Amino acid sequence: CGIVGYIGNKDSKDVLLNGLEKLEYRGYDSAGIATLNDDGIQLFKVKGRIATLREKVDEDVEATMGIGHTRWATHGEPSEENAHPHQSASGRFTLVHNGVIENYYEVRDEYLAGVSLVSETDTEIIVQLIEVLNKEYNDVLESFRKAISLLKGSYAVALIDANDPDTIYVAKNKSPLLVGLGDKFNVVASDAMATLKVTDQYLELHDKEIVIVRRDKVEVQQLDGTALEREPFTAEIDATDIEKGTYPHFMLKEIDEQPFVMRKIIQEYQDENDNIKLDSDIRQAMLDTDRVYIIAAGTSYHAGLVGKQFIEKIANVPVEVHIASEFSYNMPLLSEKPLFVFISQSGETADSRSVLVRIKELGHPALTITNVPGSTLSREANYTLHLHAGPEIAVASTKAYTAQIAVLAILAVDTAKAKGLDLDFDPLKELGIAASVMESLTDQKEVFEEIAKEYFTETRNAFYIGRGMDYFVVQEASLKLKEISYIQAEGFAGGELKHGTIALIESGTPVIALSTQESVNYSIRGNVQEVAARGAKTCIISIEGLEQESDTFVLPHVHELLTSLVSVVPMQLLAYYAALHRDCDVDKPRNLAKSVTVE
Ligand code: G6P
Repeated sequence: CGIVGYIGNKDSKDVLLNGLEKLEYRGYDSAGIATLNDDGIQLFKVKGRIATLREKVDEDVEATMGIGHTRWATHGEPSEENAHPHQSASGRFTLVHNGVIENYYEVRDEYLAGVSLVSETDTEIIVQLIEVLNKEYNDVLESFRKAISLLKGSYAVALIDANDPDTIYVAKNKSPLLVGLGDKFNVVASDAMATLKVTDQYLELHDKEIVIVRRDKVEVQQLDGTALEREPFTAEIDATDIEKGTYPHFMLKEIDEQPFVMRKIIQEYQDENDNIKLDSDIRQAMLDTDRVYIIAAGTSYHAGLVGKQFIEKIANVPVEVHIASEFSYNMPLLSEKPLFVFISQSGETADSRSVLVRIKELGHPALTITNVPGSTLSREANYTLHLHAGPEIAVASTKAYTAQIAVLAILAVDTAKAKGLDLDFDPLKELGIAASVMESLTDQKEVFEEIAKEYFTETRNAFYIGRGMDYFVVQEASLKLKEISYIQAEGFAGGELKHGTIALIESGTPVIALSTQESVNYSIRGNVQEVAARGAKTCIISIEGLEQESDTFVLPHVHELLTSLVSVVPMQLLAYYAALHRDCDVDKPRNLAKSVTVE
């Protein structure tokens, strides 16, 4: 979910609605704003997107303060009742929340016995609790503090009091939240991107802090009221990067940006002698470890699977790759000197953060590879490697995935060199070649549009198969298709199909095979024959040097270690066009959010 707040001298509606639009990547199933003026609180809520909320908000209402929220449902279905902001029984207090309150039932049973709740959300109990406590304390700040101290779980909250048009109360634990500073106004936002149009000066908040935000003053405090000094930082995001320009969708723009991202990475990780430039502490951490544990979710996890190959094959360091949400609750036996590598586009994924918190308690070092250097995972890890991919807005990740693979390749080679291993692989040169190949692929969009039409227009399911490195890429390919076109898809190890899953192949079932690895070129083609013999509609995407006449598409040659960078591009485009032709919402697929800040 995403939060925004404004308190100043101008009307707040624009800042709130524009801000929420920029936060839709965090969820978009329902939304709302609450503003406060001399007539009291005005509350507007809808099921649906910010565009729908805009239509509902009364243009004539003017108010110089307010809070807003865009939601990704956790407790309670997406509906107007469950949309934020939520209000206390008397209507005096209004609150927005991102996160999950774990002791929801305890708080409800202990403090809210006499209150009838109107929503199914965990959020409502916070605002009701504040009202109940305020009856006892008759002091809003004290009641807010006490309420926050009773909560367990994750939260970023902003509260307004109908009796006080001069204050927004803010608190955070685990979920991200920033306070932006302006001239005679201040803002609150889950991400600086939301309010970048009005300010680039932000205060970072730490867990269990509260902030009292007024028009001309911002006070950061510990929960016990101790005042804290905090210097602002400048948010360095180019506002034009978060517009889609002439592109119909962010996803297409981001697919097209991949060659430029590769070149940017080369530039950022190259010194004046064309050698790899990398923080020497990171190099040392790689040399010191006896095993790397990669922790990630979604697409970043798929990049981790490719990264393992690099680190093991190039740098000769053992690697395990784990899904963050599984690792948190089922930690494997660790080696003596583990190094944790968190891969996360946003740097905010709660599942990954919960692992980071645990391994820090155990005293293990952590490196975060992220697109957002100021993010939670970056701040809290010992080291950060930046992806330099620029803001990624489409929910389905594309350029962050290829950037992650490129940075992992650089890290692996740097480690190998530091260990004095013999290498005949110059990653910066090979990344340059991959960038040109990517460009030639994005120049041939119509080819992939045709393939998508042919294979995906009618079907309800699809299979992607590969072996070795290609197996990791087909897992990402199938995730892309599922996410945005809703076709049930599986990315499968070619040789494993026959041990059960081949039972699903029927006449006409699309099977897309990837063959970019010499050692498995014949075996994957054998697997294609097996499904073709059972009626599948097959398509082979291979690479120069391994191609056969019947292949549907042949990728230009790149170094065998880096094939994932180029073979994924047709896969992204196939998913894009499949979704487009099925009239799906490409950039904002149903049920998803780009950044999932709840566990
Ligand atoms: C969400 C997104 C995925 C993304 C995953 C991990 O589920 O919908 O596209 O891969 O989170 O996000 P991260 O920011 O940690 O890479």
